[in-house]
Amino acid sequence: MPAAPRPIQIAPSVLPADFSRLGDECRALEDAGVDRIQWDVMDGEFVPNLTFGPDVIAACRPHVSIPFEAHLMVRTPETLLERYVEAGCELLIVHAESTIHLHRCLGQVADAGGRAAVALNPATPIEAVEHVLDLVEMVLVMTVNPGFGGQAYISTMEPKVAALRSMILERGLDVDIEVDGGIGPDTIAGAARAGANVLVAGSALYRDPEGLTHAVADLRARAAAAVSDAAA
Ligand code: DX5
Repeated sequence: MPAAPRPIQIAPSVLPADFSRLGDECRALEDAGVDRIQWDVMDGEFVPNLTFGPDVIAACRPHVSIPFEAHLMVRTPETLLERYVEAGCELLIVHAESTIHLHRCLGQVADAGGRAAVALNPATPIEAVEHVLDLVEMVLVMTVNPGFGGQAYISTMEPKVAALRSMILERGLDVDIEVDGGIGPDTIAGAARAGANVLVAGSALYRDPEGLTHAVADLRARAAAAVSDAAA
């Protein structure tokens, strides 16, 4: 019996936003109809870029009511995760490659009062998360090599998404699959058809000439159409 399709969620990355007006930018994203906001947390070591500390996120928290998720592209998630929960991130995404003790680290997220998710870089096999699927509500399959926005979508990740969806279904687990990197009007259908239901977009939202609201609605419609076509 095929599982019912999971609700499509659009999660913008604020990486391309105007960093001098992040509170306003979060409000604009909420007004545009996004489901949550993803903060790309980068420490300059796990990835060659440096972005948001917890205080920046905490400053934006009161401006919107939609959930925040922290995509922890950091070498020491164990020492930082509590700060991001305190800053107002409900969901923390830990990279499988960033810690020797992934099972323990995901448990620490729950102990800190957050909800846990795990991320996979393009080269990391889904087997790396096989034994922690019971600890997470989402798996993020990176569709670019992390560190920067505006990169090209890696379409060879689609079979990986499909295999992960099968692994989750076989275990009867309630776990979302998120994709992040190069998601836009020309790529979102392939990712959704493969089994991703949470779609992170950055550049594609901000480069839509008709604005954020149109961009969010267009991406959501394209993903939903792809899923219903696949189910037909
Ligand atoms: C990479 C970042 C980006 C960002 C979205 O580390 O995680 O994937 O969120 O970037 P684009 O502009 O490709 O949507």
